Amino acid sequence: EDPAPFQEEVSDPRRRDFINIAAVAWIGVGAGVVVLPLVNQMNPSADVLAQSTTEIDISKIEPGQAIKTTFRKQPLFVRNLTPKEISEADAVAVSSLRDPQTLEERTKTGKKNWLITLGVCTHLGCVPLGAGEGENKGPFGGYFCPCHGSAYDTAGRIRQGPAPRNLEVPQYTFNSDTVVTVG
Ligand code: FES
Repeated sequence: EDPAPFQEEVSDPRRRDFINIAAVAWIGVGAGVVVLPLVNQMNPSADVLAQSTTEIDISKIEPGQAIKTTFRKQPLFVRNLTPKEISEADAVAVSSLRDPQTLEERTKTGKKNWLITLGVCTHLGCVPLGAGEGENKGPFGGYFCPCHGSAYDTAGRIRQGPAPRNLEVPQYTFNSDTVVTVG
């Protein structure tokens, strides 16, 4: 019998699509090599940005509230956890987590109520929604990413959905009880 399946595969329109996409991607990569040094020349502040710090006044953030600001051009969440949210985070069996970390490990000693994370979903980088914000359907009381349904708990740890890691905690220090420097 004629080996028809092979014939069919070659004439499959999806296969042609793939070849076209591959060609476009290749051109894209080629162009990127040329363009990137120009972009870097035009943007001498890239290194400065990478070193920059952000000072945040946290004096007005009550327990149960959060603010969204920016750090190195990325969204940054600063959240003042309630005692209930802290106990919820502490009640979780850490070894069962995809990215096992305690709330202690994600916060500063004696300041467990201050959760400071990048507002960047670790799946593909969307900005997750905070508790009570918009269409937050997160079942774990923390953040919920509307792009593909990753749900984070009150410690910003990934609990459900495709994201591989917890929301990233950047380096930060408390200057005082009311001012934090991130970076
Ligand atoms: Fe957040 Fe995909 S980018 S779940």
